[in-house]
Amino acid sequence: MKRTSKILELREIIALEKKRGRNIALVPTMGYLHRGHLSLIEQAKQTGAVVVVSIFVNPLQFGPKEDLSRYPRDLERDASLVKDAGVDILFHPTVEEMYPRSVITYVEVGKLDTVLCGATRPGHFRGVATVVSKLFHIVQPDLAFFGQKDYQQYLVIQRMVSDLNLPIEVCPVSIVREEDGLALSSRNVFLTSEQRQEARVLSQSLNEAERSLGAGERSAREIEKQLRDRISSQCHGVIDYVEVRDAGDLSEVTTIERPVLIALAVKFGSTRLIDNKVVEVENYV
Ligand code: PAJ
Repeated sequence: MKRTSKILELREIIALEKKRGRNIALVPTMGYLHRGHLSLIEQAKQTGAVVVVSIFVNPLQFGPKEDLSRYPRDLERDASLVKDAGVDILFHPTVEEMYPRSVITYVEVGKLDTVLCGATRPGHFRGVATVVSKLFHIVQPDLAFFGQKDYQQYLVIQRMVSDLNLPIEVCPVSIVREEDGLALSSRNVFLTSEQRQEARVLSQSLNEAERSLGAGERSAREIEKQLRDRISSQCHGVIDYVEVRDAGDLSEVTTIERPVLIALAVKFGSTRLIDNKVVEVENYV
């Protein structure tokens, strides 16, 4: 595996691979890798492309009161994990390498930045879209892999690629979960054992919401109410949002007739967890 923290060196390595006629697949991450990230890498490998993994904790997507400084990091552990996973190139730039000057050029993602996670994390998706756009320009991938764990992020990137005509195929990857249902996240390490136990309610309540839909419930507000009631009665977490929205563009939904995203964010102490489920309502008609 080749590894570099330098943009110029990476460009040279990639130019060589492109000259050989190889496709390039990018898996952008912030590191502290787990099986969720590894599943993105596996899918990228399966395409036969040269797989590039980036590890960069992007300051632009963290708010002033968020956990940038305490975001977990372990580059050497990550490097050995990606090497074992058969990654071809690891790119781990410093903040100075990515942002040598203060940024004045951003990628704005309009209304997608104002709902769900965007509502409580203003500017978050602008930071994500900007760094992913930079990575796309640096790596020039043919394919890029994003997890549905961050469904809104996946939609933002898909929309950016479409609006800006970027010649990149955005590939979604299903959520990887612990045995008890908790979605894997680099932030799970911050949970106390009690919070970790309680956090099971997130995936359980999403499954229950899906069952409600299956049983004929079509009111988005009612599904949200059921979720909220279950979460607040079964854990000490503080609900940030629980929402049913259109799975294609995150627009508001009253009566569920099309595929919907059921999404939630709950804070356990200072650790904010997100989870979601896309339900294809046609399956139940
Ligand atoms: P990070 O949180 O490290 O996640 C990197 C990628 O792994 C994202 O596409 C995310 O959706 C995916 N992922 C994380 N947990 C997952 C799980 N349990 N199952 C499936 N996929 C999972 O998301 C980011 O970094 C950043 O915002 C980034 C896109 C790198 C831009 O800075």
